[in-house]
Amino acid sequence: TNYKVGYFVGSLAKGSLNRKLAKALVRLAPPELQMQEIGFGNLPLYSYDYDADFPQVAKDFKAAIAAVDAVLFVTPEYNRSIPGALKNAIDWASRPYGQNSFTRKPSGIIGTSPGAIGTAVGQQHLKSILGFCNSPMMNLIEAYIQFTPDLISDDGVVNSESTEAFLRNYMSEFSAFIARVLSVYPRSA
Ligand code: FNR
Repeated sequence: TNYKVGYFVGSLAKGSLNRKLAKALVRLAPPELQMQEIGFGNLPLYSYDYDADFPQVAKDFKAAIAAVDAVLFVTPEYNRSIPGALKNAIDWASRPYGQNSFTRKPSGIIGTSPGAIGTAVGQQHLKSILGFCNSPMMNLIEAYIQFTPDLISDDGVVNSESTEAFLRNYMSEFSAFIARVLSVYPRSA
């Protein structure tokens, strides 16, 4: 069975390390995973004043999430949390009340940082957020990637055999996790 996976790159930076990681994950994903990026950089700052009538850009964003079987967050840690732009995007997706895009949508979290902690603290915040949004999360395996110089090229080639094997395994575990969640919560339900 093929699964559509929408991925979020938590960083808006042109030279984003997490974008390089995302490109590597697309390359290393098993063939049944159809990977597509869900962008969020053009969303305005959320307010519930929009709930009565979402702007088209936010409707399109929610439709993009609705169209995938699972979501994957590839995100940096900013000040021991997730970047504000990503939180803003999640807030948009979670509303209007009763139309939370993440309910029962399987998710995975991975990130990279030059620091040794490898986004672990930011990921804990994201788990708290997605827990409230009722997204079943893959708990194992965890993936905290320390970005050593030239670890991944701009187009996603991994220059470390052990990291490449780890990331390939992460994606195949994510595929198996999606299958398990969808067996309990079929997409049509
Ligand atoms: C950082 N950085 C950072 N790193 C980290 O490991 N823990 C942290 O809490 C923070 N905090 C932080 C805040 C802000 C505002 C910035 C700009 C950066 C460093 C960060 O990991 C580094 O800039 C990475 O390159 C960010 O990933 P992207 O944006 O390149 O994908």
